[in-house]
Amino acid sequence: MLRDLDRVLYHESTILVRLDELAAQITKEYRDLELTVVAVLNGSFMFMGDLLRRIPLPLRVDCVSVASYHGGTETTGKVTFDQLSIPDVKGRHVLILDDILDSGLTMDAIKHKLGGLGAKSIKVCVLLRKLKKRMAEVDAEYVGFDIGDEFVVGYGLDFQEKYRNLPCIGVLLPEVIEAGFAAARAAKDKE
Ligand code: IMP
Ligand code: MG
Repeated sequence: MLRDLDRVLYHESTILVRLDELAAQITKEYRDLELTVVAVLNGSFMFMGDLLRRIPLPLRVDCVSVASYHGGTETTGKVTFDQLSIPDVKGRHVLILDDILDSGLTMDAIKHKLGGLGAKSIKVCVLLRKLKKRMAEVDAEYVGFDIGDEFVVGYGLDFQEKYRNLPCIGVLLPEVIEAGFAAARAAKDKE
């Protein structure tokens, strides 16, 4: 799987050191509040596990399921919610956890949804933030790493639902992305 990478951006050990810092900051700021973490699946599953076990507070964890990429490497602009998994956040201090802030459309949609459900406060924590002009005016209070505007995989992030289990974060070889698109086209033609 590592062979499919053009380069590694962050090794697991680097990520975990940064998570120690983020967790300490979050712990300090939510020390006297009841914290509810809302993790965005599937991309944040590894980030969630590693970050939350470093926060020694009796917090609640909920998950929401959304999709906006649908197999490509760029947002389709349409964020779909899995309606079954919308958490009860009324009156709660919410910290939304996601793998990456890209166009901002996903985070904007989730913030509005949770705000509409009566959350007392809403902050955002992302492992990665792409430095680019966003399609929605949204930012994160807690950020693991700022990266350039390129497509990355690993540590929860996928390409066509694969590579989420890579322990590091990296950039795929162009030919791997091409092959993935070709395979998807071939599968579609067969339908
Ligand atoms: P946004 O709505 O464009 O901000 O996209 C956010 C979601 O798209 C994230 O939760 C990821 O699941 C996915 N995403 C954005 N950029 C990347 C990337 O570089 N690699 C893999 N998934 C990404
Ligand atoms: Mg994704």
